[in-house]
Amino acid sequence: MRKKIVAGNWKMNLDFAGAEELAAAVAERLEGEKLQCEVVICPPALYLEMATDFAEESVLKVGAQNVSNRDNGAFTGEISAAMLASLDVDYCIVGHSERRKYFHEDNAFLAGKVDKLLDHGLTPIYCCGELLEEREKENHFNIVEQQISEGLFHLNDSEFYNLVIAYEPVWAIGTGRTASPEQAQEIHAFIRGLIIKKYGRELADETTLLYGGSCNAKNARELFSQPDVDGGLIGGASLKATEFVQVVNSF
Ligand code: PGA
Repeated sequence: MRKKIVAGNWKMNLDFAGAEELAAAVAERLEGEKLQCEVVICPPALYLEMATDFAEESVLKVGAQNVSNRDNGAFTGEISAAMLASLDVDYCIVGHSERRKYFHEDNAFLAGKVDKLLDHGLTPIYCCGELLEEREKENHFNIVEQQISEGLFHLNDSEFYNLVIAYEPVWAIGTGRTASPEQAQEIHAFIRGLIIKKYGRELADETTLLYGGSCNAKNARELFSQPDVDGGLIGGASLKATEFVQVVNSF
């Protein structure tokens, strides 16, 4: 399903009124636009139903920011893939570096979340990316390979087909420091190469690879013009409707 995608990761921001206002503003600005990509908003879980209501009446798709690796039961505070599916949520971010860092989620644990999402027909947006010190030691290819192989390579072909990968170098997230288009292309091509080795060229060519990390209206066009960059996972710049729509229109 290699399509171009721009997804806005709202993280833990906005109150309900603010979230509703942002969803409405994005939907309104996109109305009638000839879009070159799919547009996804990923609000906090509490606002997903509001967002899927907007999605019904607009081009927007909706993603969650997290999901449980369990089916149901006594897991206080958790939200299951079945619950997300029952709200018509389309996507779910998995393995964002903030979850890896603050909630100690590792690749094997994240593999379980990917499975639950696929079981319920949601598309995981699986995040990978290295820390600054890992890049400085030129260890970034190894780290990303490990994140992808341990988190995803248990999937069979048809499962893998329903997946999106986001490369987000941790040193670029929320820092204003973006990977250069050449750096992004280099590692995206590397990731596609890993998929070719494991699943073959046909499936690799169908896989959407997003870039994330201080991607904004100023740098999106150059990043998205790279042959292996199929769109972006946008944090800070997705909280302003005008800028987010500019990013969406950067293909
Ligand atoms: P940023 O965040 O665009 O604010 O760097 C991206 C992300 O964390 O998904």
